[in-house]
Amino acid sequence: MKHFVVASLLTIFGLVLFILIDTETIFPQEKMTIDEEQQGLENQITIVFSHVVAENTPKGLAAQKFAELVYEKTNGRVKVEVYPNGILYSDNEEIKALKRGDIQMIAPSYTNMTELVPEWKVLDLPFLFRDYEHAKAVFTGKTSKELLQFLDNENMKGLAFWSNGFKQMTSSAHPLLEPDDFQDLTFRVMSGDVLKKQFQLLGAKPVTASFTDVYSSLEKRQFDGQENTISNIYSKGLYKFQPYLTLSNHGYLGYSVIINKNFWSRIPSDIQQQINEAMLETTYWNMDESKKMNESQLEELKKQTDVSIYELPDEAKERWMDKFNPLYQEIEKQVTNDTINNISKKQ
Ligand code: LMR
Repeated sequence: MKHFVVASLLTIFGLVLFILIDTETIFPQEKMTIDEEQQGLENQITIVFSHVVAENTPKGLAAQKFAELVYEKTNGRVKVEVYPNGILYSDNEEIKALKRGDIQMIAPSYTNMTELVPEWKVLDLPFLFRDYEHAKAVFTGKTSKELLQFLDNENMKGLAFWSNGFKQMTSSAHPLLEPDDFQDLTFRVMSGDVLKKQFQLLGAKPVTASFTDVYSSLEKRQFDGQENTISNIYSKGLYKFQPYLTLSNHGYLGYSVIINKNFWSRIPSDIQQQINEAMLETTYWNMDESKKMNESQLEELKKQTDVSIYELPDEAKERWMDKFNPLYQEIEKQVTNDTINNISKKQ
């Protein structure tokens, strides 16, 4: 009888213990039967693509288009997940996250890459690009391939350049037309030497700030001005705090589309080929779309009654150019590569 009671108690104890222990510890997930859907996913490659701008921008839409084309061309084998608005990483963090392999693709401005790729500094020279056709010729032709090769290090591989468009000047203080109008104003800039010097030569004080912080810092009046494309000014509502807008077209905002190199090298070559085809198609689409978007969003801005828009007169542009001369001389001394010297001669 005593033995029976002990045995019963032990059985009950054992049963309680069994229920309390997480069943996953006893039957780990991977040993369980795998259903059809899980088997399918094992063969699927996911590319996490993180960026910092809004979805209705040239970069936001290009990332979406690329995702659709990749899915189509690989018959669903590769899925590109796009995370906009810096929800995963800010522009300060995304390059490191890509190198670590935490995400697989980013498209930072080439300006933000110039610390790692100094050869790209030339692309930030003011008034380097004459018009959209000039930029398209540089960023889709042989020159772009040569430029991308400078990046082939640090676990990154450059796949393409995308376009946002021409940068304009905005201010909360007053219209910016003559170099003197910049005197002592504080400007938000992306992280790049050439942009800093551009503002110093105009007598302004440049301060680097992440794009993800621009809206809130303009709202808090931390800057008197900033430069950006119509698309970023419109989609992020920057004009709300910067009512003076000068259509200066003084600089170009372009992106380097980068993939983690280790990840890329593990992708089978036929799929790499399909991804490259999707990238090429997206790049041509983006070059045309970016121009249209900036034009149509400018029309939207013109409807805002509290935004004053000024064209930069040609004579004033000459005076800006005179100020920028030392910057050209400095960069030209550093640049030895023929490709880069030839950019300004491109059709
Ligand atoms: C900026 O920092 O102003 C831009 O580089 C943001 C972007 O990615 O367009």
